[in-house]
Amino acid sequence: TDVPHTRNFCIIAHVDHGKTTLSDRLLEYTNTVAHRVMTDQHLDSMDLEKERGITIKSHPVTMLYPAKDGISYRLNLMDTPGHVDFSYEVSRSLAACEGAVLLIDAAQGVEAQTVANAHLAFSQNLKVIPVINKIDLPSANLELCLQQLEDILAIPSDEAILASGKAGIGISDILEAVVARVPPPRWTNYPQTRALVFDSLYDSYRGVIAYARVFSGSLKAGDMVELMSNGVRTEVKEVGVFTPKMQKVAELDAGAVGYFVSNIKDPAEIKTGDTVTLSQRRATEMLPGYKEVRPMVFCGLYPVESSDYEKLKAAVGRLRLNDAAFVYQQESSIALGFGFRCGFLGLLHMEIIQERIRREHDVDIISTYPSVVYHVVKHDGVVIEVDNPVNLPDPGTIIEIREPMIKAAIHIPNDAMGDILSLVMEKRGLVDHTDTLDATRVMLSCSLPLNEILVDFNDRLKSVTHGYGSMDYELGEYRAADLVKMEILVNADPVDAFATIVHRDKAEGKGRALCEKLADIIPPQMFKVAIQAAIGGKIIARDNVREMRKDVTSKCYGGDISRKRKLLDKQKEGKKKMKQFGRVSIPSDAFIKVLKTN
Ligand code: GTP
Repeated sequence: TDVPHTRNFCIIAHVDHGKTTLSDRLLEYTNTVAHRVMTDQHLDSMDLEKERGITIKSHPVTMLYPAKDGISYRLNLMDTPGHVDFSYEVSRSLAACEGAVLLIDAAQGVEAQTVANAHLAFSQNLKVIPVINKIDLPSANLELCLQQLEDILAIPSDEAILASGKAGIGISDILEAVVARVPPPRWTNYPQTRALVFDSLYDSYRGVIAYARVFSGSLKAGDMVELMSNGVRTEVKEVGVFTPKMQKVAELDAGAVGYFVSNIKDPAEIKTGDTVTLSQRRATEMLPGYKEVRPMVFCGLYPVESSDYEKLKAAVGRLRLNDAAFVYQQESSIALGFGFRCGFLGLLHMEIIQERIRREHDVDIISTYPSVVYHVVKHDGVVIEVDNPVNLPDPGTIIEIREPMIKAAIHIPNDAMGDILSLVMEKRGLVDHTDTLDATRVMLSCSLPLNEILVDFNDRLKSVTHGYGSMDYELGEYRAADLVKMEILVNADPVDAFATIVHRDKAEGKGRALCEKLADIIPPQMFKVAIQAAIGGKIIARDNVREMRKDVTSKCYGGDISRKRKLLDKQKEGKKKMKQFGRVSIPSDAFIKVLKTN
């Protein structure tokens, strides 16, 4: 590598501030991707990403840029996900760079993830190049953006570049700034080979393909390497760069960004953030910042048609291969049959995986209510982790239940303050402090139980602020709370799919709503069937399923035989999908309907 003439940088931004559009423009400008093969958004390859407009996976790309100083520079651009669920992935992509282009939508100004991403970049000592993007918009407010840059991010406004990815304004200024302001690759003098794994991809023929930034030394085919977090050793089969297609090269050396293929077939063995070194001449210290990522949100996923179980199994297995942060294990439920307990980084991650199962694997699925991971302190002093309400031990054996908290930074227009304060209160949150961002906006720093923001917090934030509110959060500590397991009983039998862990104060309201919904959706029965919500045996809400008025089968007696047979066949068909609760049979799609309408 020509270290002095290499620059590794990324683009960071709040969601929708135009990262993909600008990246594409850079590729086009440097002729990395020929104009004609440029699809609208080249870097977002997954369909789903396109639709949601969210970059999920980091795709690095190497560009050659002939700068105004007459020298050709090699620019490695890392794409980064913008959403809170993927902040560890963002931080690993940043760790592979020396600089970051920070995009700010000229019409939106600085938002929650602009700040969070900028702080991540500062904390990794990256050179930050501020770019006010979308200046072609009639609603662009440059003055406000420049002011916010100084006030909120403490970046001198004269460093800002004005640009529009869409209209192609300021593109060469950005590339020149990357060359001039971002330092060449750092830490190249470390005596042994160290490379940072910042992502990976699963290929059914070649196994795991790890994306790596080499800091010192080199990697080439035939090297025996070791992953420093877990001591796994493997042989490098191939190394290459992204053009953006993967292209095999002889060697990746200090400062380079590329990929390597090894003998590793199990994606769980190569973790994002890990350091790769040579087994013969091992480095003694890992590159900084490695962290185990652990799933924070769990739910059960079940096929709507039980015959789709094998298909679902194949689907989760495949998804896991490309996403080490997604975990699953088999489980079964009385109400829903066989399925999987799945763990995700956050709610968005959960939605994306569910969507991909439906779409790419064509399996109709239903999910149970999401749950966080609780810490349960038992009388014998043992602390256990519970991610499924069904597994909560008997209340008599529990001293306390602790729940995960988050620290949220919520950016809102001043006039939404009252509504947001009540929303935070309703979600059992506390506002730690408020900061004025500028004449029209404030930032609230709050602590909230993670569990409470799982379902509708973000939607409500958006609706109360007419789309101008934004939030970023990081995990805080665990805190004890008055939490209880609430069960839903059908004819006195608990239905496992509806068990939840809730705050005692909220149990009754939630219980009543669920009972009502179930009573409404379950078809009329021959006799009275009670639907009850209970906490540890104590009934807190109740409703009844409607009773059937007349006996439908009686009118068949003496009737024509083929009609009778048809009815029997129909009944048989129906029986397969019935779940038995004491004397009561309930079609499983009733449960599915209730879970769907939540
Ligand atoms: P995420 O991947 O979701 O973080 O989005 P992104 O930051 O990559 O934004 P993307 O490039 O997908 O652009 C978001 C929206 O803004 C799209 O509708 C773009 O067409 C539009 N957009 C991007 N750049 C510009 C620009 O310079 N001017 C205008 N007017 N619109 C732009």
